[in-house]
Amino acid sequence: MEINKLLKIGAEEIKGRQYGNPVLEATLLLGKLLKVDKVYIYTHGNEEVPDFIVDKYLQMIKKRKEGYPIQYIIKEKEFMGLDFYVEEGVLIPRPDTEILVEYVLDYIEENYGDEEVHVLDIGIGSGAIGISIAYYRKNSRVYGVDISQRALDIANINKERFNLKNINIFKSNLFENIDKDKRFHIIASNPPYIPKEDIKALQEEVKYEPVLALDGGEDGLDFYRRIIPESRSYLYSNGLLILEIGHDQGAKVAGIMEEEAFKNIKILKDLQGLDRVVLGFKG
Ligand SMILES: C[S@@+](CC[C@H](N)C(=O)[O-])C[C@H]1O[C@@H](n2cnc3c(N)ncnc32)[C@H](O)[C@@H]1O
Repeated sequence: MEINKLLKIGAEEIKGRQYGNPVLEATLLLGKLLKVDKVYIYTHGNEEVPDFIVDKYLQMIKKRKEGYPIQYIIKEKEFMGLDFYVEEGVLIPRPDTEILVEYVLDYIEENYGDEEVHVLDIGIGSGAIGISIAYYRKNSRVYGVDISQRALDIANINKERFNLKNINIFKSNLFENIDKDKRFHIIASNPPYIPKEDIKALQEEVKYEPVLALDGGEDGLDFYRRIIPESRSYLYSNGLLILEIGHDQGAKVAGIMEEEAFKNIKILKDLQGLDRVVLGFKG
């Protein structure tokens, strides 16, 4: 069967999904199987595709039709211009998290130049935050922790994929396994922040993601109540604490930072104008 025909069949099958872009998704799936990029697919519409690939493609389309996330099918998600390896068991990096990473990259450049800077990423998942920082700021020494062994394995795959020497990845329940004498210039986290009750109502795709990466307790704020006070012992004086938040958690998380004597607290908004990140400095 020809590429064009397969795209048409695939897009038609998955077009009923509420979230998604059927033509783009069909293109990505076929491109993955043929090991070519989108442009190749668009410019070689009349090329014949071998039967064994057609079968695999149709199986993938079926999975996608059932709501299985495309990123888990193609095992990849682009974040900060880097193609991260992802698979079921780890959160798929979200574009909103780039706001936090971009702030940290600018902050390092403006305040540390080439000086070595120590950064902790709590709940590293696939590595979206910690690995992007290590990749784009070679003067950073990044420590990434997670409680999930699956997440640690995937973060390590990405560490190798980008050939990074300046990141240590290890298991820890928040700060538990971090040396008590260790100090950081920056602590960053995108912790689980969805209120327990809301998880059931999330869109179909999110239901395939690990609950451990989503569940922020009764009101979604459990992790902020633990990370903010504890981070004080691990930050240098004036060190930066930067946290991704849910769109309606800005005032509450900023309030916890204030109670814990952080200063110059700021809320950053996402492209939709919603609160997305809270940051402050150890006072
Ligand atoms: C929302 S995900 C963020 C993943 C990644 N940093 C990102 O931005 O794509 C939260 C991560 O925190 C991890 N996590 C949950 N509870 C934890 C705990 N007590 N200690 C360390 N990590 C934890 C989860 O396994 C998950 O990988």
